[in-house]
Amino acid sequence: MKIISFINMKGGVGKTTSVVEIGTILANEHDKKVLIIDLDPQTNASFSLMGLDEWDKVKDNATIADVLGMNKAFSSRDDEYDINRAIVKNVCDIQGLDLIPSHIELTFLDLDLSGQAGRENILSSQLEKCEEDYDYVLIDCPPNLTIAPQNALVVSNYIIVPVSPEFYAAIGLPLLSNRISQLKKRLPGCTVEILGVIFTQVRQTLDHEHHLNEIRKTCNDDLDIATFQTVIPFTTRISESAKWNKPATLANPNANGIQAYKNLTQELLLTLESDEEE
Ligand SMILES: Nc1ncnc2c1ncn2[C@@H]1O[C@H](COP(=O)(O)OP(=O)(O)OP(=O)(O)O)[C@@H](O)[C@H]1O
Ligand SMILES: [Mg+2]
Repeated sequence: MKIISFINMKGGVGKTTSVVEIGTILANEHDKKVLIIDLDPQTNASFSLMGLDEWDKVKDNATIADVLGMNKAFSSRDDEYDINRAIVKNVCDIQGLDLIPSHIELTFLDLDLSGQAGRENILSSQLEKCEEDYDYVLIDCPPNLTIAPQNALVVSNYIIVPVSPEFYAAIGLPLLSNRISQLKKRLPGCTVEILGVIFTQVRQTLDHEHHLNEIRKTCNDDLDIATFQTVIPFTTRISESAKWNKPATLANPNANGIQAYKNLTQELLLTLESDEEE
């Protein structure tokens, strides 16, 4: 089981979209068993894969908030919440694509768990219970590095950083890389590596082309971070599909951004393979 977190402190850069589309393609076209974990109280990944009616049924006692120990009433009856209770199987009728949905309540996780020893290790010990069940776990993180994403960092083998090639991204990337290095020193057992940057929402403008090239160069020369060759173009049909509670891969399979996500998934599988051989 390989665990990959999609992280960038910058918002709106395509973290959720990348998790949802890559997860769907891995399950649908590569026969992989995939678990997507929505770790963001904004619940965007959840609603890209399930409708409000379905979410209503699970919101009280079967979301990532429960897995992370927020539902105190429940955890006093049981020793520990069982992560399997929060897994929604075969979302969007895709065989092998499972989801742990999120909840807005997760906003208060840091307050709830303040002072609790080992609060960064909860997800790690929970995921041990499904070690045998998945090829890939993809974690959609919020645009910050608070306790929930710290749980993701501790348990992950890899980080993927989605980046939209703009001026602020060039400034933010060294900060993110530094922050992750610091956290790795502070969080015991955290051995996560940045697998690479993926460029998302890329427009055919001189400005995007300039920043994309500059960021690739900074990653190579200064930060020692790999960048994926495949670039995801800005594709209106990707943003449109959110309203159908479905991945764009299913709603708009012929969109050029989706073809790019398929190529990217292929590149990701090859990158993971060669990393394992090293
Ligand atoms: N390649 C693309 N082309 C066009 N729109 C896109 C593309 N990728 C993502 N979007 C749209 O951009 C918006 C932000 O994307 P997304 O939600 O994936 O970013 P995020 O990094 O997860 O944001 P947040 O930090 O708020 O969680 C969404 O409306 C999404 O549909
Ligand atoms: Mg998001």
